[in-house]
Amino acid sequence: MNITFAIDVVDGLTAKDKHLSSKYFYDDNGSRIFQEIMNMPSYYLTDSEFEILSLQAKQIVEALKFNQPFNIIELGAGDGFKTFKLLEYLVNKHIDFNYVPIDISEEAINILSEKLHERLPELSIKPQVGDYFEILNKKFQGNMPNLLLFLGSNIGNYLKDDAIALLKLFNKVMNSGDKLLIGMDLKKNPITIKNAYDDKDGITKRFNLNLLVRMNRELEADFKIDDFDFYCYYNPETGRVKSYIVSLKKQTVFLKKINKTIVFSQNELIWTELSKKYSLKEIEKLAHISGFQTKQNFLDCKHYFTDSLWQKE
Ligand code: AVI
Repeated sequence: MNITFAIDVVDGLTAKDKHLSSKYFYDDNGSRIFQEIMNMPSYYLTDSEFEILSLQAKQIVEALKFNQPFNIIELGAGDGFKTFKLLEYLVNKHIDFNYVPIDISEEAINILSEKLHERLPELSIKPQVGDYFEILNKKFQGNMPNLLLFLGSNIGNYLKDDAIALLKLFNKVMNSGDKLLIGMDLKKNPITIKNAYDDKDGITKRFNLNLLVRMNRELEADFKIDDFDFYCYYNPETGRVKSYIVSLKKQTVFLKKINKTIVFSQNELIWTELSKKYSLKEIEKLAHISGFQTKQNFLDCKHYFTDSLWQKE
């Protein structure tokens, strides 16, 4: 049994306002559903960032101003689809660098390494499997400059204080002059944002309800999946998409492995995810409080998304 998961489930489901962390979405099944989300036309984030990294690779590399071989360290590399275009540009230009993809999923890292060996045989790749916090426990070694990649608007899934703490941790392990390229989703027409999360085909609903399936499997719970639904809304004033699982009736669930009974009232919510959207001003502020200087924002043509280049001050 994954003890941290069990403890977080007990804490979250016995709280006055029930909640579960979106980090638990990503078991093997959840990761597959997330791939489906990234392929949905309404989930514009993937296409926007892909466009930035495909069409502005040259500008991004020039803005790094690294005039010696460097490392690209990618946190949560996944299948590496977005990053491929940037790596391809560097390899084709014979620029000397090492690529260090890091992901919690060994399966994802193996698939990525194989794909890259096949498609970019000259690429120097040093994959690592593990949790960000385990890997970011000591300063980057050696005298090569580093570019840290944190793409996909992953930062948007952290509550404000946790986001700042994570960015400060990045800052602490980086050396002066190292850069961070961070993907952030921008505030835009609220309808576009709502449609990215409240999809008609119910893929995001399946993504959320998979948390119940996971508890049934790992904690021997007896959630009846059909008695729960999914709800989300976007608040254009705060830039927050909040996602929930809704109990459709008064019901009791027993989690055998942890010997816990949880009572749900009708329409009671479990908050599962925050997906924060930013203004360029907020991005500037966030960089500043975490010890970075914003160098440049690379936006897609619709101005939906930015890959923001920050330097450790
Ligand atoms: C991974 N993360 C940035 C996604 C997001 O947009 O918040 C996860 C996601 N949740 C629902 N759809 C996609």
